[in-house]
Amino acid sequence: MRTFLVVALGLTCALQALAADMPPKPVRLGLCAACHGETGMAQIPGAPNLAGQKLDYLRKALKDYRDGSRDVPLMRAAIGPVSDADLDQLARWYSAQTPPPQAAGQP
Ligand code: HEC
Repeated sequence: MRTFLVVALGLTCALQALAADMPPKPVRLGLCAACHGETGMAQIPGAPNLAGQKLDYLRKALKDYRDGSRDVPLMRAAIGPVSDADLDQLARWYSAQTPPPQAAGQP
């Protein structure tokens, strides 16, 4: 009984630690999910997978779309005049996702 309690306690802590690592779900995620999926796995042909991508890279890509230095009309329209805070949240969210194993090696 005692062992069980100790194990259960340990598990609870581990789960809490995992949950704490996950950034909050961004408010604007719904729109992005139509093309990139909630977990960063592309839903339409031509959209890149974002799951597990480097945080700095995602943040920069989003800024580049927003200010137009990366001029892809589709993504520029999707990102719109987003605030730095929102942009950061979206980048954190996708960067924290883990791609499913079978998709790992794909471009
Ligand atoms: C209508 C479909 C669509 C929507 C909606 C959309 N995207 Fe995209 N996204 C794309 C496509 C297509 C590309 C590839 C564009 C290119 O070639 O640069 C892309 C590229 C990106 C990239 C760059 C990836 C890389 O590897 O360089 C990021 C980051 C990104 N999208 C994030 C988002 C976020 C965050 C949202 C929500 C605010 C969003 N996208 C909404 C279709 C979409």
